[in-house]
Amino acid sequence: MVIGGGLAGLSTALRLADADIRVTILSKKILNEGSTRYAQGGLAAVLSEDDSFQSHIDDTNVAGVGLCKSDTVEFVVRNAPRSIKWLIDRGVSFSLTDENQDGEYHLTREGGHSYRRVIHAADATGAAVEETLEQIVRRHPMITLLENHVAIDLITSKKLGLGGENCCLGVYAFDQNEKKTVTLPCQHMVLATGGASKVYLYTSNPDTSTGDGIAMAWRAGCRVANMEFVQFHPTCMYHPHAKSFLISEAVRGEGGKLIHADGSRFMLKYDERGELAPRDIVARTIDFEMKKNGYDSVFLDISHQPAELIEKHFPTIQQKCLEFGLDITTDPIPVVPAAHYTCGGVVTNLDGQSDIGNLYAVGETSYTGLHGANRLASNSLVECLVFAESAANRILATIKKYENTSTISLPIWDESQVTDPDEQIVVSHNWEELRRCMWDYVGIVRTDKRLMRAAHRIQLLQEEIKDFYSNFRISNDLIELRNLVQVAELTVRSAMMRKESRGLHTTRDYPNLDETQTPQETILTP
Ligand code: FAD
Ligand code: SIN
Repeated sequence: MVIGGGLAGLSTALRLADADIRVTILSKKILNEGSTRYAQGGLAAVLSEDDSFQSHIDDTNVAGVGLCKSDTVEFVVRNAPRSIKWLIDRGVSFSLTDENQDGEYHLTREGGHSYRRVIHAADATGAAVEETLEQIVRRHPMITLLENHVAIDLITSKKLGLGGENCCLGVYAFDQNEKKTVTLPCQHMVLATGGASKVYLYTSNPDTSTGDGIAMAWRAGCRVANMEFVQFHPTCMYHPHAKSFLISEAVRGEGGKLIHADGSRFMLKYDERGELAPRDIVARTIDFEMKKNGYDSVFLDISHQPAELIEKHFPTIQQKCLEFGLDITTDPIPVVPAAHYTCGGVVTNLDGQSDIGNLYAVGETSYTGLHGANRLASNSLVECLVFAESAANRILATIKKYENTSTISLPIWDESQVTDPDEQIVVSHNWEELRRCMWDYVGIVRTDKRLMRAAHRIQLLQEEIKDFYSNFRISNDLIELRNLVQVAELTVRSAMMRKESRGLHTTRDYPNLDETQTPQETILTP
């Protein structure tokens, strides 16, 4: 069973289904709704002769500020080109260069990359990838789709009090069409539920990013690591109706400049790489400049580039901006940082295996060690692909070992003690309060005092949500809120443990990087 219909879920499912394994994919909305379909910039891989594996490895490590796991970085970087070939073989049409329409791919640049190495489909790479795989998955005879099914909790042998090795036996899921909870057994379980950026008030992510996989794995007994490293994307459109629409880093890669309303540039004052410094630095600088000057936003300007280049590479962004009355070929775009990516997650090995033998985590929900203290742009989609392959291979190699798990009879979901909620407002109010609290106290710049405040509020919210969850019939909102508050708690705990500033974790109380801190990963054990 695979929970999640993004790149991690679909590619793992396809690898297994192509090897004649029956796979059920659960997705809480329609299959393609998740971060993948909104990805813009592309996938980073060494695809040109000028480039080298060592350079991609070095750039990943520099962006990750010394916390990337070297075996993981090596593994992903070396396997990335093959994974991209797998996508091309499945029919994804990446953009070609202007000069040669016979099949040489156009590579763009993004922050922190020393070379052009980001393969893309204009500025809608995720949509191209997701649509291609979705079509194959929908027709695949070995794949069953359960859309609009929200996974609630994993069923493990330990939870059922069975002896032996703890393993995952299945999942309870809320069928939103029938409004009932179903019990789904499995032999192997893959969590591919994406990240948790919805825990912040302002985010580039779709509504699905509520950290469900991280919370479920944690409750099942798995370790979770590096949750303090929340990536804020520097440039989301600032407009009351734009819902944090992302303006791709590739805009800066193709020459876009960050400016204030008076036209002055500021990035070079802070970093010699200017607009193409790693994302943590750019987001922190924008945050600082906005607060220092009392501005609501800064501006991203690419209007000096030829209109044809802008139209060719950024048609989606151009169209979206036009909807809000902005012509990017002539006007600068108002932008602000917003929560974008969860660098931490469920601890896995190089096969995507979690602490529970037949439970895997792939994609943004996992912590593989690739991103360290800050993810290098466009390293996420390739991570999904590379780990989908290794997880699928591991499952194939151990298929016999867990053969009997799906035959164990599982208790059905017990609703006998609950009633319909009398005050739905409690759930929506807590959603709002939690996300605002995380934005205000656990944002780009932190302090011990703010983290303490957040911890107190989260504890109160957790008690209230637990009470609500125990006494009332569940809904999608309640399931997500319960997971969000869990993720918030893990994020704050991790942030409080890190007594230094590094990458995406900046605290005024410990402004310097501290190489003596051990252990360098922030691992939490349930
Ligand atoms: P997702 O694509 O988020 O998929 C998660 C799936 O899990 C969804 O189908 C969802 O419905 C399902 N799900 C979640 N919870 C449950 C549950 N409880 N029950 C059932 N189903 C559930 N990265 C790059 O490398 N390059 C880029 O150019 C890039 N651009 C980006 C642009 C935007 C706007 C955003 C938001 C992200 C971008 N990223 C980019 C990051 C990247 O897109 C994501 O990290 C990646 O797509 C995550 O894939 P995934 O399969 O792990 O999760
Ligand atoms: C972008 O296009 O700026 C997003 C790239 C990423 O998140 O890796």
